[in-house]
Amino acid sequence: METVNIKDLDQYVGQDVELKGWVYSIRTIGKIWFVIFRDGTGLLQGVVVKGEATDETFSLEQKLHQEDSIIINGIVRKEPRSVGGYELGVKEIKVVNHVTEEYPITPKEHGADFLMSNRHLWLRSKRQNAIMRVRHQVVKAIRDYFDSNGFTLIDSPIFTGNAVEGTTTLFEVEYFERSAYLTQSGQLYQEAGATAFGKTYCFGPTFRAEKSKTRRHLTEFWMVEPEMAYVDLDENMTWAENLVGFIIKRVLEYCITELAVLERDTAQLESIVPPFPRITYDEAVKLLTDNGSDFEYGNDFGAPDETLLSEQYDKPLMIHRWPANIKAFYMKRDEQNNKLALGVDMIAPEGYGEIIGGGQREDDIDILIDRIRHHDLPLEPFKWYLDLRKYGSVPHSGFGLGLERTVAWICGTKHIRETIPFPRTMSRLEP
Ligand code: 4AD
Ligand code: MG
Repeated sequence: METVNIKDLDQYVGQDVELKGWVYSIRTIGKIWFVIFRDGTGLLQGVVVKGEATDETFSLEQKLHQEDSIIINGIVRKEPRSVGGYELGVKEIKVVNHVTEEYPITPKEHGADFLMSNRHLWLRSKRQNAIMRVRHQVVKAIRDYFDSNGFTLIDSPIFTGNAVEGTTTLFEVEYFERSAYLTQSGQLYQEAGATAFGKTYCFGPTFRAEKSKTRRHLTEFWMVEPEMAYVDLDENMTWAENLVGFIIKRVLEYCITELAVLERDTAQLESIVPPFPRITYDEAVKLLTDNGSDFEYGNDFGAPDETLLSEQYDKPLMIHRWPANIKAFYMKRDEQNNKLALGVDMIAPEGYGEIIGGGQREDDIDILIDRIRHHDLPLEPFKWYLDLRKYGSVPHSGFGLGLERTVAWICGTKHIRETIPFPRTMSRLEP
């Protein structure tokens, strides 16, 4: 008999199959009982009827518990009323392992902290399964997008000798006789990549010692960072919007079941088609004040500001040309206005906040040295980075898209900790 997965049952209607997995729940109606069973690819209802199942199997009713591991076999039937659209006429259940203590996660409501402490088990639940599958598709879409558009994957290192995004969120680690930092962004290495390959990207974990306990911040998160030689801010924004459009399209194509489990309003996602609106920081500030905000020019936008701004549009919003002194040292100044940096942030709709940060990079070595000094950063660790301006400097741009914030928006989850298998926050290092 063939061992199959629940997700493929449409190909086995009328056939005897074997499935390997775990008990989700048990329910009895009169003389028959039902085992809801999961195998990691879906849920399936098994119907256990005396005479059709072996006597030994039929007598398991009182002995099975949630999360017992079982191997089950029987005949596949189409059953639209059943979870997943199929059911199994059970012939035999083999118990691989009995749970001897009560499983901590039951269908009743649990608090978020309890569930996070049981993350290693919580991942088995339907909602968490759906979120992780969406995450998987988003990762795949991102890789496909860059791989099919002429980018070369250049992995950036995780141990680094310098800050990229300011010194206040650096994780310092002992590194033999000296200190190293966990990378905040792979960007600087992508700039080396872009001058070697034209277009590159890295995609990996990045670290920020964020002392904020918001629903948008993790201390370890995944970021994809493309970098492109001979690309200016405008073209950079085009790449960014096309990437996001591509991701959404892919998820709508491959994750409809998951989005249904998550009760996500897909109409909102269907309208995410490039081009996206582009406004300057100055225009964004005006939009805020016109909408009654007391936002002060020159500040960075906080979460409520971003929400107010995103509510004005039904697509992601790109805000560009920022006051230079609130942006990183590497950003190129606007030739039209030296006080502005050629940075861009993309704000997701529905109040999900910033999902992309990027911009055009300073390509003049003297200005760059000046900026590094101005930001009180040591020059020595940036020597190699300055070489990129010494030898064959060109206009170049790139951006970083935060994976978890993107998945949170797509899935409609309130907190980004549900979008990464094992979240790391200020207060959580286990499991
Ligand atoms: O805006 P950020 O800090 O930009 C950079 O790091 C650039 N060096 C990227 C580049 O140009 N190559 O971060 C980029 C994105 C943010 O828009 C956000 O989506 C995500 O990374 N992000 C976080 N996600 C979760 N938790 C945090 N603490 C995050 N900090 C940034
Ligand atoms: Mg940013």
